[in-house]
Amino acid sequence: MSQPQAMRRVPVGQPLLGPEETHHVNQALSQGAISGFFGDYLPKFEQEFAAYCECTHGVAVSSGTTALHLALATLSIGPEDEVLVSSLTNMATFFAVLYQGARPVPIDSEPDTLNLDPGLLRARITPKTKAILVVHLFGHPVDMDPVMEIAREHNLYVIEDCAEAHGALYKGRKVGGIGDIGCFSFYANKVITTGEGGMLTLNNAEWAARARNLKGLAFGDKNKFQHRDIGYNYRMTNLQAAIGHAQFGKIDEIIALKRSVAHKYMARLAGRDDIELPPEKEYARNVHWMVHILLKGRNAERRGEVMRALAAKGIESRENFLPYNMQEIFIARGLTRHDECPVANSLGVRGFYLPSGPAISDEDINFVCDSLIEALDQ
Ligand SMILES: Cc1ncc(COP(=O)(O)O)c(C=O)c1O
Repeated sequence: MSQPQAMRRVPVGQPLLGPEETHHVNQALSQGAISGFFGDYLPKFEQEFAAYCECTHGVAVSSGTTALHLALATLSIGPEDEVLVSSLTNMATFFAVLYQGARPVPIDSEPDTLNLDPGLLRARITPKTKAILVVHLFGHPVDMDPVMEIAREHNLYVIEDCAEAHGALYKGRKVGGIGDIGCFSFYANKVITTGEGGMLTLNNAEWAARARNLKGLAFGDKNKFQHRDIGYNYRMTNLQAAIGHAQFGKIDEIIALKRSVAHKYMARLAGRDDIELPPEKEYARNVHWMVHILLKGRNAERRGEVMRALAAKGIESRENFLPYNMQEIFIARGLTRHDECPVANSLGVRGFYLPSGPAISDEDINFVCDSLIEALDQ
């Protein structure tokens, strides 16, 4: 009897792991350096990654979410404060503001980059505004010059959520080093990964020291158990940093692969009047963390159907984020309204991303494109 054929499966993302990761993890293990307090890999990974982001300090943490929270805590943003945040993002960006008891103010998106529209910032500034929290979504940098100009005018901090944009360039500068603090995620599907993990990148030595102290329970200098503050345990382990160090060795290769994957999709899908392909503004190098497309025209409202048709062929895809202003828990608390960010709402329901792992084969890209075109032409 013939065996049923296993269904082809195209995952939405897959890390590029190899013998280097195994080697460095084994090194850390054999040295017994497994925690977040000791080991050579932590400072090594912090220094090389911060330097890559053109920053003098890197503070490794347990996730992108804790990086964002630690950045806000380091800057002492608290209950009386407001933070302007890109509405269309992973809700981790908003949670970080809420952990501090501050009020997030959602900012609507640019229709092409999906990032916050800097032209909308000024109207949302009040005497309580303390910071702008930008998100470089899907690997495309935010238009930072107007953001920095407004921040300088109003004396606001700028925090960059770079969870999806390692190595992205704005006018030739790396994201994560343009604002006051950059926050990265190294979750398994990110440009480079430590399994779970994150990092703050910055140029202010005092803030770096404060972040470092806060992330490790804020132990005292002289008497360790005389705590300096209400600390957190947000430490990355040396084992994770060992993976990070190995991944860092191939960051340029991974970005080149991701860009090449995106360009292959774009070549196959170009010219269709029902798809908007990922942008790359003249000021940007998009690292294409994920190849995100928008449906429009006659297919604008068929996202669910199209994604189900792909899934039936073993092709994973993910819908775009649901903006902050569409989250029922925040609407119920009176923090936002459905109609607060209409552009983000439209992008949120029309967008989704395709399998974009750095090691995806040309054959799989073609299979995804054929299947997508078939579903769109139904
Ligand atoms: C834009 C954005 N911010 C923050 C996070 C949170 O990072 P983590 O999952 O490492 O906590 C993610 C993704 O996971 C993200 O995509």
